[in-house]
Amino acid sequence: MRPEHPVALITGASWGIGEATARALAADGFHLALGARSVERVSSLATELATTHGIQAWGGPLDVRDGDSVQAFLDQATERLGTVHVLVNNAGLARGLDRIEDVRDADWDEMIRTNVEGVLRMTRACLPAMRRAGWGHVFFLGSTASHGVYEGGAVYCGTKHFVRAITETLRLELLGLPIRITSVDPGMVETEFSVTRLGSRERADAVYRGMEPLVAADIAECIRWAVGLPDRVNIDQILVKPRDQAAFHRVHRQS
Ligand SMILES: NC(=O)c1ccc[n+]([C@@H]2O[C@H](COP(=O)([O-])OP(=O)(O)OC[C@H]3O[C@@H](n4cnc5c(N)ncnc54)[C@H](OP(=O)(O)O)[C@@H]3O)[C@@H](O)[C@H]2O)c1
Repeated sequence: MRPEHPVALITGASWGIGEATARALAADGFHLALGARSVERVSSLATELATTHGIQAWGGPLDVRDGDSVQAFLDQATERLGTVHVLVNNAGLARGLDRIEDVRDADWDEMIRTNVEGVLRMTRACLPAMRRAGWGHVFFLGSTASHGVYEGGAVYCGTKHFVRAITETLRLELLGLPIRITSVDPGMVETEFSVTRLGSRERADAVYRGMEPLVAADIAECIRWAVGLPDRVNIDQILVKPRDQAAFHRVHRQS
């Protein structure tokens, strides 16, 4: 049964969709464990949300690429807040838009270690407690890149196809348990994502020029809605794009 104040662990809560999800869930009374490498940001966000919403919140260091960091974060979160009921596997990134002939080892390493290994590691670490608690929900931040590919996106799209595979596999493996599994798969959302991918604010701004992208709060609202539904309802997948985007290559822009 759903606890009165479920504990949600959000990876990559320092910026963008993770931060917005923390804000949305805090407003709904969730206690929060917020992880990222930018410790000051998650720590001050936790303090702000605890004060504003009267919830328990803690922000601490988390690097999902590192098994010791994942275990230390989960141990501390559990000690401070109790059992983790909701995992939002949000930490993720793209590096570059290089074609396969040119893609760099460092870039694919970072994407695969974060988006693939990080998601596996977090999920494996959190599931036993959810089983014991008898109520859980795992969210995966996939992407439209979980469903298709584009030039220069082989590695990022590959990692998000993986996220789709693990989501669907987990739903089969956990059938019969009171743990829900939801994939949230956005199109273009204006966050730090494109700055990280392209290396400058100017190049990132060009991605959204003349069109209206989604904002992080739109994705947070999808998560808030799915976790708030009655326990019998599992939203498998939310594919959500801006009205101005029909496909990767089909974006409506004002000239
Ligand atoms: N924006 C989009 O258009 C879009 C579309 C589809 C899917 N997504 C997915 O949505 C998720 C969130 O992206 P966003 O748009 O919110 O991007 P963002 O603003 O760049 O935020 C990314 C977050 O991930 C964290 N992160 C990165 N590497 C990490 C690591 N090794 N350990 C822990 N945290 C890490 C970052 O925190 P630190 O740097 O502080 O660690 C940051 O908080 C990603 O999985 C992304 O692939 C985004």
